[in-house]
Amino acid sequence: MSAQTIDGKAIAAEVRGEVAARADALRSQGVVPGLATILVGDDPASAVYVRAKRKACAQAGIAARDHDIEADISEAKLLELVDGLNRDPAIHGILVQLPLPGHIDEARVVEAVRPDKDADGFHPANLGRLLSGNPLVVPATPGGIQQLLIRSGFAISGAEVVVVGRSNIVGKPLAALLMQKTLGANATVTVCHTGTADIAGHTRRAEILIAAVGRAHAITGDMVAPGAVVIDVGVNRTETGLTGDVDFEGASQVAAAITPVPGGVGPMTIAQLLHNTVDLAYRSSE
Ligand SMILES: NC(=O)c1ccc[n+]([C@@H]2O[C@H](COP(=O)([O-])OP(=O)(O)OC[C@H]3O[C@@H](n4cnc5c(N)ncnc54)[C@H](OP(=O)(O)O)[C@@H]3O)[C@@H](O)[C@H]2O)c1
Repeated sequence: MSAQTIDGKAIAAEVRGEVAARADALRSQGVVPGLATILVGDDPASAVYVRAKRKACAQAGIAARDHDIEADISEAKLLELVDGLNRDPAIHGILVQLPLPGHIDEARVVEAVRPDKDADGFHPANLGRLLSGNPLVVPATPGGIQQLLIRSGFAISGAEVVVVGRSNIVGKPLAALLMQKTLGANATVTVCHTGTADIAGHTRRAEILIAAVGRAHAITGDMVAPGAVVIDVGVNRTETGLTGDVDFEGASQVAAAITPVPGGVGPMTIAQLLHNTVDLAYRSSE
C-alpha cells in the first residue's frame, strides 16, 4: 500500500483565497485588516517563518506591520511595544514569534497581548475558551490541522485520534479542539508524551495519528495502523534537510494518507493565521 499524500499547499491556497475574499469585503467597508508581527533576535528558523507569514499577509490583502527587534531588547521595552499595538486601532492581530530570548519571560509577553488581538490564540484566556468549547481564536497549527482533515474529507467525528506531543501551542490545543462536541471535531482523543508507557500501543490504535514531537522520525512505520491518516507536524533540520517527526517512507507503506514535510501542516498554519487575523478584524468592526 502506498499512502495518498495530503497536499497541504493546495488546501492552504484554497483557504487563503477565501481569506483574501473576506479581506476584500472588509476593505470595501473601509477596514483594512492589520497584522503586527514581532520578531526578536536573529534565529534563522524564526526569521524564515515570519518572512513567510508577512508575504502571505500581503497576498491576502492584510496590512503587515513588521517589527524586527534586536535580541537584547529588555522585557519592559517589548511589553511597551505590545501595549502600543494593543491600543492601535489599525492593528487587529498581533503575533509574537516564539521562542523569545532567554532573558524575556515568554508567558508574560504572551499574556500581554490583548486576547481579542491574539492572532496566534496562545493567550491563556483564548486557550481556556477553546477548552470550554467557545473559542474566540483557534491556535494556528491546531486550526490548520483541523481544516486539513475536514477539507481532505476525513471523518473526525467518532474517530480514534492519537496526538503525540503535549505542547501548549500544538498538542494540548489540538486535543482540546478535536474533542469538542462540534462539527469537524467530536473525536476520541489520546495524548501521548514522554511519560507515556507504551506509545506504539496507542499510536497503533489511531485512525488519525498526529505527530508533534520535535524529533526526526520519532514515528516509524510499525507504529502506524493500516489505513490510518497520518499528520506530521514536525519540522526538524537534519543534515539531509528538513524532515518531519514521521518516517515518511515507512509510514506510507501502511497509512491511507499522510502529510509531507515540507508542504503539509506548515502552509496550513500560515493560512489559519491569516484567517484568524481577518476574523479578528471582522469582530472589531461589528
Ligand atoms: N508546521 C508547523 O506549522 C509547526 C508549528 C509548530 C510546531 N512545529 C513543529 O512541530 C514539532 C513539535 O513542536 P512543539 O512546539 O509542539 O514542540 P515541543 O514544545 O518541544 O513539544 C514536544 C512534545 O513532544 C513530546 N515528546 C518529545 N519526545 C518524545 C518522545 N520520544 N516520545 C513521546 N513524546 C515525546 C514532549 O513530551 P513532554 O511534554 O513529556 O516533554 C512534548 O510534549 C517541532 O518539530 C516543531 O518545529 C511545526
